[in-house]
Amino acid sequence: SAAEKDGYDTFMEKEIHDQPHAVADTLLGRTDAAGQLILDELRIDPEELKSITKIIVLACGTSAYAGMVAKYAIEHWCRIPVEVELSHEFRYRDPIIDPNTLVVSISQSGETMDTLMAVRYAKEQGARTVSICNTNGSTIPRESDAVLYTHAGPEIAVASTKAFLAQITAAYLLGLYLAQLNKKLYSQAIKDILAQLAEIPAKIQTVLDQADQVKELARSMKDTGSVLFLGRNVGYPVALEGALKLKELAYIHAEGFAAGELKHGPIALIDEGQPVFVVVPSPMDRHSLHAKVVSNIQEVRARGAKTIVVAEQGDEDVKQYAETTFYVPETLPMLMPLLTTVPLQIFALELASAKGYDVDQPRNLAKSVTVE
Ligand code: G6P
Repeated sequence: SAAEKDGYDTFMEKEIHDQPHAVADTLLGRTDAAGQLILDELRIDPEELKSITKIIVLACGTSAYAGMVAKYAIEHWCRIPVEVELSHEFRYRDPIIDPNTLVVSISQSGETMDTLMAVRYAKEQGARTVSICNTNGSTIPRESDAVLYTHAGPEIAVASTKAFLAQITAAYLLGLYLAQLNKKLYSQAIKDILAQLAEIPAKIQTVLDQADQVKELARSMKDTGSVLFLGRNVGYPVALEGALKLKELAYIHAEGFAAGELKHGPIALIDEGQPVFVVVPSPMDRHSLHAKVVSNIQEVRARGAKTIVVAEQGDEDVKQYAETTFYVPETLPMLMPLLTTVPLQIFALELASAKGYDVDQPRNLAKSVTVE
């Protein structure tokens, strides 16, 4: 009913607008007065967690892209090697797991059969298992050693939005917790990152308040046959998610690439008028990826691409090469996915709506896939 949708036309639109709360609620109550991270729910002996030498993240669909963000964050903050694998691939390839392996599954529903079976398999092989999950008491958290719930609230629309941002938030918390436990970051550094995280909900709201610009572009592109997305570092999973949303909702060809891979193949796809979204790293990125991505924008533009850029507020360099620029507020480079994802969600929603499609129930898809 309209009431359940809070006055929005669709659950998806409502859920996109719920995102400031989804992130805030996922952060809530997870620090003490002194600013230390407390993850009481993580019922694995801290000594055992300290002995973890490898992390494997398992998930499917959008949740797997949250897993990719988790890898960048955990490796950077904790210096523990992280692999990310699709659950259905993991189980059928003799993966190497031992008691010092921590398997982190990510699932909105907690019922995805592929992920459940992968977690069971990992347990049988002796791994410790943590579930990042949005559904209380669902099967995957029940079968895991520990759970870190995301508090996005029920997600009704088939295509995941607020659960994705909540999963990324939970992954950051897990990463910071492991860094705290293993003394890989100074406590002040952890506090600084948490303080930046606390500002994210208001910044998401700022992005939502600027949605009209994105919507207008989406409507003007309603007859587009293909859209490419480029990103680098944590912007890479964002590009993949932007492409997935467009496939799921608008049924058009969309592909995400790591921007550095452009010259190794995808650039051949570029011809006159090809729309290319580029998720631009922060100019503050410590690997100086910003300049590299700006040259990627120039490269595709020189070949006729219509460039649509998602960049950080104040990044004036990108503007001259972009047909359209969407700005998001400044944050730490590592936290940018919580902001840069949002315009891509709105774009897919609006383009699909302009085509007259049911965005809450896209064809051929199910909210949770409980068969193999
Ligand atoms: C289905 C949904 C996707 C979701 C994926 C994983 O394919 O349509 O939106 O990302 O399952 O679901 P999970 O509940 O495990 O996160």
